[in-house]
Amino acid sequence: MPATVVVGAQWGDEGKGKITDHMAESADLVVRYQGGNNAGHTIVVGDEKFALTLIPSGVLSPSVTPVIGNGCVIDPAVLLAEMGTLRKRGIDPSRVRISNNAHLIMPYHRKLDAVKERFLGRQQIGTTKRGIGPAYTDKYARHGIRVQDLFDEKIFREKLEVALRDTNLMLTKAYNQLPMQMGSIADEYMEMARKIKPHVTDTSLLVWQALRDGENVLFEGAQGTLLDIDHGTYPFVTSSSPTAGGVTSGVGIGPMEIGRVVGVAKAYISRVGSGPFPTELNDEVGEKMVEIGGEFGTVTGRRRRCGWLDIVALRYAVRINGISEIAFTKLDVLSHFETLKLATGYKANGEDYSEFPRQQRVLYECEPVYEEHEGWSEDITRVRSYDDLPAAAKAYCARVEELAGVPIATVSVGPARDATIVK
Ligand code: GDP
Ligand code: IMO
Ligand code: MG
Repeated sequence: MPATVVVGAQWGDEGKGKITDHMAESADLVVRYQGGNNAGHTIVVGDEKFALTLIPSGVLSPSVTPVIGNGCVIDPAVLLAEMGTLRKRGIDPSRVRISNNAHLIMPYHRKLDAVKERFLGRQQIGTTKRGIGPAYTDKYARHGIRVQDLFDEKIFREKLEVALRDTNLMLTKAYNQLPMQMGSIADEYMEMARKIKPHVTDTSLLVWQALRDGENVLFEGAQGTLLDIDHGTYPFVTSSSPTAGGVTSGVGIGPMEIGRVVGVAKAYISRVGSGPFPTELNDEVGEKMVEIGGEFGTVTGRRRRCGWLDIVALRYAVRINGISEIAFTKLDVLSHFETLKLATGYKANGEDYSEFPRQQRVLYECEPVYEEHEGWSEDITRVRSYDDLPAAAKAYCARVEELAGVPIATVSVGPARDATIVK
């Protein structure tokens, strides 16, 4: 059975966790392929609300094996705390599998993330300060420390010494900070290693075997297309590849194993942190989206910037990821707007743009070209069949499908698992 990728089609927080959790009911493996605990996925099952950052959303389905692939960066303290919280709430995390090749987030990564942002001042990215960027920087600089290094204390200490030599120079000379101590870090990580060991395996082999056995494998993206290190609004991006292409290297499988790419898009759009945002609304309409949509970050609690659905960006996401269908979320939030707008193009310096501009400056300077659609006032949170949606809601969805060039296969009308319409 070919695997499915669930990917964010916007700047993150599209509702990937909710959609993955819904799809995980019939899955065997749910696999994260990039990112770390910068992700925040809120999932509502019955009366219970879960906020997951690192552990794949599939953990809430008892038959699923949740897998953290090699392309992820793991903060072991966060991993153990998240497992502890799940255990307390009656969810068994013993099934979680972690790649031997994933890189570790170290205390100095968190420190560097925070001080670098402070030094950037007005140019700051607005990171989650979880150490994500510095951990990936060390990976590519080839002095990162991997999960497997935890199980060979001599090698772990050697690698830590090499990493700290560089990092402490940077911390003390460039950023005027105190150096970090090798001994206490090593002791803390050796202690956590014992608890993590039973979960560690060759996850590439595990996924490959599951695919050979005909199991249903879901790859769960964190962040979104426009936060991708290559295809996003660089440098206001994350330091990994959330796009579908990230799956092959982030898990260790071939592209022919993937048969379906579900792009998750909100019925409007949001972003947290800095960076260009053509359809951003700094008015009472945007404020209403924040309020009704509950648009505050799961990880940092920051207010999300909101705006009308950007079709130019959505079509870009369809192309970059090879999206075969859209899961359209938070349609219920639009119930209370008289008129809805879709940005079908941009206008800048007398030029029209229908494709995502190759010069990023255009994203700052452009005016979106909007087409208006009639809203609806009915509460749609209890609708479970597409036909039962108000005519104006169906017309809005149909127009999005037409403009995006791919079908909307799922419509989400509330945070709960069952508030989902499968077309
Ligand atoms: P993710 O990072 O893509 O998994 O998304 P987040 O969980 O960070 O943000 C999405 C938020 O919207 C969460 O609070 C969800 O519970 C909520 N949510 C998801 N789908 C819907 C929906 O269809 N309607 C409403 N009202 N809320 C939703
Ligand atoms: P989920 O999986 C929204 C943003 C940060 C910042 C930039 C870089 O919940 O969709 P980082 O800490 O990754 O170095 O921050 O990326 N960002 C997210 N925004 N949702 C996320 O994850 C995000 N993860 C990172 O706000 O602008
Ligand atoms: Mg989120």
